[in-house]
Amino acid sequence: MADGQHAPITLIPGTTRPAGAGVSAEGLLLDCWYLARPSAEVKPGTQARVMVAGEPVLVGRTAAGEPFALKDVCPHRGVPLSAGRQMPAPDGNPSVQCPYHGWQFGTGDGVCKLMPSLVEGQAVDTARVKVRRYPVAEKHGLLFVYIAADPRFDGEPPPPPEFGLRAERPRFVVSRVFEAHMDNAVVGLMDPAHVPFVHTQWWWRPPSTGLRLKEKQFEPRGRGWAIARHAPSGNSLAYRLLFGQDVTTEIVFELPGYRWEVVENGRAQFFTLTCLTPMDGRTTLITQASYWTGAPLLDLIKPFLIPGAREFLDQDGRFVDLQNQGLPHMRTMLWIDDIDVQAKWYHALKKEWAGARAEDRAFANPVKPATLRWRS
Ligand code: FES
Ligand SMILES: [Fe+2]
Repeated sequence: MADGQHAPITLIPGTTRPAGAGVSAEGLLLDCWYLARPSAEVKPGTQARVMVAGEPVLVGRTAAGEPFALKDVCPHRGVPLSAGRQMPAPDGNPSVQCPYHGWQFGTGDGVCKLMPSLVEGQAVDTARVKVRRYPVAEKHGLLFVYIAADPRFDGEPPPPPEFGLRAERPRFVVSRVFEAHMDNAVVGLMDPAHVPFVHTQWWWRPPSTGLRLKEKQFEPRGRGWAIARHAPSGNSLAYRLLFGQDVTTEIVFELPGYRWEVVENGRAQFFTLTCLTPMDGRTTLITQASYWTGAPLLDLIKPFLIPGAREFLDQDGRFVDLQNQGLPHMRTMLWIDDIDVQAKWYHALKKEWAGARAEDRAFANPVKPATLRWRS
C-alpha cells in the first residue's frame, strides 16, 4: 500500500486493551451486540448458559416464544439459573426458577418474584433482588445479546447489527470454539495470505493452483471496512452457473466481529455471515450462517456445503491451536504490508471504539480507502 499510512513491518502485541470506556479488562469490546445462539437452538420453554465477553449469560425462550437473557448467576448463592427450569411466577408471568432454593426471577425484568422459604413476619422485599437482564434481539434466525459496559444499564440499547440480508432464516449454520482471544480470531479470519496454504481442499483451492496476484479496493464502511463491490474473479464460472449473469460480490467487516460476504444479482442472493463472539479472554465462538434466495441449485448441493463449511472452520481452528504453541513465547507479532493491513485496521477501529466512548463523541471510522495487493 503506497499511501504511507503504515510502516512495512510492524511489531504488534497479540491482543490490544486500548484504554478507555467500552473495553473489558480482557480487551473485549463492550456496549456491543454479540451473537449468543442461532434461534433454532433456543426452543420455547428452554434456556442455556453461554459465555459472552466474560459474562455468564442465560439465553432462553419462554413457552410463548419470547427470547430473553439474564445473568446466569443466582444472586443468592451463585448457582446458574440456567440449571433450573421455567415456570409461571405468582403474578402469572414467565420466570426462571433457581434449582437450589427455588427463587424465581422474571424472564422479562430479572426481578425476584418468589422466595419459597419465607414465612409470615419475614419481611424480605423480593422485588429488590434482581439479576442483570441483557437486551436481546432476534433477526435472520440469530439471537443477539447486548453487553453493556455498565452492569446496571437498563436503557434502550442501540439497534442490533444490520447486514443487508434478504433471507429470513439461515439454510445452515456451523460453529466452532477457537482457543483464541477475540483479537487473534478476528485477525485470523481476515488474513488473506493463509488461504493457499491452509484451505487446500481439492474442490476449493488445490495446491497446484499456485499463487496469484490479488489487488482489491477497500473502503471504510460503518464500524469497519468493505472490499468494494466488484464482479467475482476467481470461481466466476461457478457463480455464473449458480446465479446467472450480472453477479457482484462484496465483503464487509464490522466491529465487534462480524464479517459477511454476499454474492448477488437482481434475482438471487448468497450470503455468508460469520459472527465472532468472545466467550472470555481466551476463547472465541465462531458461528457461520449461510443464507440464499433464488438459487435452487444451491438447495441441491447443500448436503456438500455443510461439511465443506465445517472443514474450513476446522482448518482455521487447527492453526489457532498451532499458534498457541508459539504465541506464549513471543512478546509481539511481526506484521507486514499488505497482508496484515486489515489486521492493523481492526486494532485501529478498536482503539477508536474505546476513544470515542471515553470522550463521549461519535465513532469516527479511522480506515482510509486503499488498494491492497498481495500474492495468494
Ligand atoms: S442459590 Fe439460587 S435460590 Fe439459593
Ligand atoms: Fe481461513
